[in-house]
Amino acid sequence: MPGNSIEELPGVGPATAEKLRDAGYVDLMAIAVESPKVLAEVAEIGESTAVKIISAAKQAADVGGFETGDLILERRKNIHKLTSCSKAFDELMGGGLETQAIAEFFGEFGSGKTQMCFQLAVNATRPVEDGGLDGDVFIIDTENTFRPERIVQMATALDLDPEAVLKRIHVARAFNSHHQMLLVEKAQELAHEMNVRLMIVDSLTAHFRAEYVGRGALAERQQNLNKHMHDLLRFADLNNAVIAVTNQVSAKPDAFFGDPTRPIGGHIVGHAATYRLYLRKSKGGKRIARLIDSPNLPEAEAVITVGEDGVRD
Ligand code: GTP
Ligand code: MG
Repeated sequence: MPGNSIEELPGVGPATAEKLRDAGYVDLMAIAVESPKVLAEVAEIGESTAVKIISAAKQAADVGGFETGDLILERRKNIHKLTSCSKAFDELMGGGLETQAIAEFFGEFGSGKTQMCFQLAVNATRPVEDGGLDGDVFIIDTENTFRPERIVQMATALDLDPEAVLKRIHVARAFNSHHQMLLVEKAQELAHEMNVRLMIVDSLTAHFRAEYVGRGALAERQQNLNKHMHDLLRFADLNNAVIAVTNQVSAKPDAFFGDPTRPIGGHIVGHAATYRLYLRKSKGGKRIARLIDSPNLPEAEAVITVGEDGVRD
C-alpha cells in the first residue's frame, strides 16, 4: 500500500483516522493485530467496517513474519551482554543483560531501580572488552530522577572520563504516557545517526498508573502499555540494544491484588518483558535481585550493593 498511512485503509476517513491515532493506533501493524470489537469501540465504527479495516491493515503491514530458524540463530549471534558491575548479578543473567531483549526491574521505592539504570548507562558507553556496548544511551525519564552528578560519580569510580560518558547519555523527560510513547518513535529516528545500544525507561508505568484510573480505564491502559512494550522490543531488535525499564510495586499487601510483589501493568508488561527482576532491600545497604520467569535461565537470586561508587557485589 502506497504511503503506508492509516488514511489509505478502506473505510478510514480523516475523522476515524484521528480517533485511531488518539487511541494510540499510529501505524498499520497496531491496527492489524487488534480485534474488530475493540477497534470498533475505539473508532466508533461498526464492527463489520472494523473487520475490513483490520484485514486491509494486515495485508499492508506484512504481518506474515515467519522466519526460518537459521536466520533467527544468525541474528542471535549478534547478541551482546551488558555488565552491571556486579559479578553475582551478571552471573544471574547468564553473563549480563542481553541485547534484543527487555529487562524489567521492579521493586518498591528505594530498592535501587534507578541506581541500577544509572550504572547500566555508564557501562553501556564502555568498550565491549570491559563488558560494555561501546554505544550511546537513551533515557526516557518520567519522574525527573536523572542526576548527572551520579553519573559523574559512577564514571569516576571506573576511571572513565565523566564528561565523555555524559556526552553519550541522551535524556528526555516524558510529561505523560502519550509523550512517553512518542519518544520511542523519536528515538528510533535519532538512532539512525547514533549507535544507540541501551534504552532506559524509568519509570515505565508511573504515568500510565496516574492517568488511567479506575476499572473502566484498565483495558485502554493495558492496550497502550502493550503497544509501548512492543515498540520498545522493536527498538531492541532494530538496534541490537538492551532495554531496561523500571516498575514500582508497593511492599504493602494490596487488598485488590493481594501479592505485594505483583508489578503494575501485571500480565501485559510481564509478558512482553524478556527478563523480570525483582529488587528488594536487605540488611546493611544490600539489595537482593531475583530473576523471575526467564525463557532460558533458572529462577535465582543475587546479592548486590548500591554504594557511592555505584552497583557492586
Ligand atoms: P523509586 O524510584 O522511588 O521507586 O525508587 P528506586 O528503586 O528507583 O530507588 P533508587 O535507585 O533511587 O535507590 C535509592 C537508594 O540508592 C538510596 O536509598 C540509597 O541507598 C542509594 N543511593 C542513591 N544515591 C546514592 C549515593 O549517591 N550514594 C550512595 N552510597 N547510595 C546512594
Ligand atoms: Mg527511581
